[in-house]
Parts: sequence; structure tokens; C-alpha cells
Amino acid sequence: MDSRVAPDDVDASESEVSGLAGHVEAYEKDIEHVLISEREIQDTLKRLGAQITEDYRGKDLVLVGVLKGAFMVMSDLSRHVRLPLEFDFMAVSSYGAATQTSGVVRILKDLDHEIEGRDVLLVEDIVDSGLTLKYLLRMLAERRPGSLEVFALLQKTDVQQVPLQIRYVGFEIPPVFVVGYGLDFAERFRNLPYVATLKPEAYRDVVGG
Ligand code: PRP
Repeated sequence: MDSRVAPDDVDASESEVSGLAGHVEAYEKDIEHVLISEREIQDTLKRLGAQITEDYRGKDLVLVGVLKGAFMVMSDLSRHVRLPLEFDFMAVSSYGAATQTSGVVRILKDLDHEIEGRDVLLVEDIVDSGLTLKYLLRMLAERRPGSLEVFALLQKTDVQQVPLQIRYVGFEIPPVFVVGYGLDFAERFRNLPYVATLKPEAYRDVVGG
């Protein structure tokens, strides 16, 4: 079964960059480039939400969000899924305050409900090395869901350390550190409605680079 949905091309024009970077004035000095605009994100979520609606009609859908980063995509995506569904959340941590993935996955919060026999769609904001996802998929599969698939808003190219089947991918992005739309640096920038890169000096002090 390969109904994988092709990701969109990533291309933000200069006018979008200048027009959107001011969303949070205090962040503006740290933002280097808007990689994916709010409009591109919302259009893609609408398209993939419609696809999920078709794919899961008549199923017992549970959206499992991986906190914290996925809270925003869970909220917007779910409004485009025109089906009865339930939400559950897990919280994991792999980055801490640094900008490189550590490969160490800590479970901070487990699911509230059983998923045995249910159709689970795991929702991630970003797949980087893939180590977090690999760990979560193995853990969730042991609970015998009826089906288990993955939605990732962002997938970094050329850095995935393990082969993973991701059924829905919003955007493939280059292997750069990004913030916004749920993604943070040291817990900031999550409330930006777009995905952006940071100027090196924005995190130099914290990571000691
Ligand atoms: C991010 C992201 C994924 C993971 C991806 O979470 O939400 O869960 O890293 O990295 P990987 O593919 O290299 O494993 P993070 O640990 O930053 O936590 P957060 O969502 O709470 O910010």
C-alpha cells in the first residue's frame, strides 16, 4: 500500500519574507529567512486533510500528537479532517536547548487511552534524524493498533538515519535548523505562523557555536 502524498516544493518569495517576518516584532532581529509561508502551510494542510478524510472514512481514527512541537499542526490539520476522530498526545524530548538531534528520546508523557484495534495517525511537526519516530512507532506498534501511519509536516532531506515510511509529508526541507509553527529554539518562536531559519547569532550564545 503506497498512497504516500507527494510533498510540496518549498519556495518563499522575497515579498513573503518581508511581509511575514514581523508577526512577532521581538523575534524579527533573529529571523534569517522565511522558508515556508503561512499560506503555503495552510494550503498544504487543507489538501492533506482532505486526503486523510478520504483515506480514513469508516475507520476508528485517533490522532496522536507528539508534543510539544506538533500542537499547532494537530490543531489546524484536524479542522480539515471531516470525520469523527479522537485526540491523544505524547510528549517526548530529543533536542533540549541545542539545535542538533541527540538521538536520545525521553518519554515525558504517555498516551491517556488504549489504542489497541484503533486507527492511529501519529502527527509530527518534523522528522529530522528519524530516531524519535522510529522509537515511537516501535512503542506504539507493540500496543497492537488496527493501523499505524505517520503525518509529518516537515521532513528533512539527506539526514534521516533510519528508513521510515511516512504516509503524509507536508514539505521536504533542507537539513537546516528551523523554528516556527510549533517548532522552537530554547522554547521560543513556536507561535510564529510560518517556518523560518534563524540567524547564527540568534543561537550562538546558547549552543556555544
Ligand atoms: C522534535 C520534533 C520531533 C523530533 C525530531 O522534538 O518534534 O519529535 O524533534 O527529531 P529526530 O527525527 O531527529 O528524532 P523536540 O525534541 O525538539 O521536542 P519539542 O517538540 O517539545 O520541541
